[in-house]
Formats: sequence, C-alpha cells, structure tokens
Amino acid sequence: MSGKLNVVGISGSLSAPSRTLSLVQFATERLGRELDARVQVVDVSRLPQLGLMRSREAAGREETAAFAAVEAADLLVIGSPVYKGSYSGLFKHFIDFVDYGGLVGKPVALLATGGSERHALVIEHQLRPLFAFFQAQPLGTGLFLTEREWSGSALIGEPAEQRFERLVHEAVSVVRHATLPLAIAAE
Ligand SMILES: Cc1cc2nc3c(=O)[nH]c(=O)nc-3n(C[C@H](O)[C@H](O)[C@H](O)COP(=O)(O)O)c2cc1C
Repeated sequence: MSGKLNVVGISGSLSAPSRTLSLVQFATERLGRELDARVQVVDVSRLPQLGLMRSREAAGREETAAFAAVEAADLLVIGSPVYKGSYSGLFKHFIDFVDYGGLVGKPVALLATGGSERHALVIEHQLRPLFAFFQAQPLGTGLFLTEREWSGSALIGEPAEQRFERLVHEAVSVVRHATLPLAIAAE
C-alpha cells in the first residue's frame, strides 16, 4: 500500500448533468493535485441501493465501497444542491449511514450550489452543524455558488475564484499539518 493521501468527494445531487457534481469534481481534482493524492468522487445519485437502505447492513457492493472510501479519506470535499433551504434528502440519507466515529477530526470542505444567493447560509446553518455532529473538522471557508459564479466547468468572477483559492489553501494546510505528527510518530 502506497503512502498517498486520499481525497474523496461526495456529490449530493440527484440531477444529471449536475452543477453540484461538476463542482465537487473540480474541487476534488484540484485538491488532489495540490496534495499529490488519490482522488475519488462518490455520486450519491448513482448508488443503486441507497434509496432503499434502512440500515448499513442493507448496503450493496457500491454503497459499501463508497462508505469505506469516505471513512478512510484524509480530506472530504462534500457538495449538495440546496433543496428547500437545506441539503438534499438523498445526501442526508447517505450521511445517515456513515459510521458514527468515522469522521472524527477529518477535514471537510463544504460546497453547495443553489438557485438563489438568499440561501448561501446553507453552508453555515445546515452543512456545518451536520459535520460538527460527527466531530469532523469543517474548513472555515465554504463555497456556495449559483449559476452566476459556477458555469458547470469553471468559476466565474474574482470573488468566487478568491474564495475557492482560500478554501484550497486552508484544506492543504490542515491536511499537511494533520499528517505531520503521524509521520513523526511513525519514525
Ligand atoms: C427540489 C428542489 C428544491 C430547490 N430548492 C432550492 C432552494 O431552496 N434554494 C435555492 O437557492 N435553490 C433551490 N433549488 C435550486 C437548486 O439548488 C440549484 O438549481 C442547484 O444548483 C442544482 O444543482 P444540480 O445541477 O446539481 O441539480 C432547488 C431545486 C430543486 C430541484
């Protein structure tokens, strides 16, 4: 097994094509490059058993692999479309089966897409408390984008670009500092 880090994205969108999925892929790939890490994106809409699951034991092969990847990640990059002022129900359904202790201390980049800037605080009021429940480590900078700032393949405008760069900087420094004591301890 190589010593490479793992950056894992989760897209909570039900759409195809999806602006949320493309944003999660964009951010995950960039962070993977910065950290020289392996990258993987979980698209919850493509997990065949997820919608029918009432317990983790009911997970199929693809769901089991997705939960394992998320719980083993060194950095999570999560994104959801805003649905009725919150994250999507399917995103929450996926997160409901993540192991209670599986995200403790894990850095999490919080992303969301929406139709209206009025709902930008979905990051602070919905996503941040969800990951606080897991005692994860959400980054200070989150990214909420409407179609005015995310084309589906590129950030539009300086404010969005600057915010994204700040998120990348925070993520990289948190992950590097998190691994440093472990590397020292292993020597
Ligand atoms: C069922 C539903 C509910 C939505 N509710 C909101 C909302 O409350 N606030 C908002 O800003 N956008 C809302 N939207 C718009 C989506 O958040 C927005 O179009 C998002 O970027 C879609 O991402 P996607 O391409 O990944 O599906 C809603 C869309 C749907 C389908």
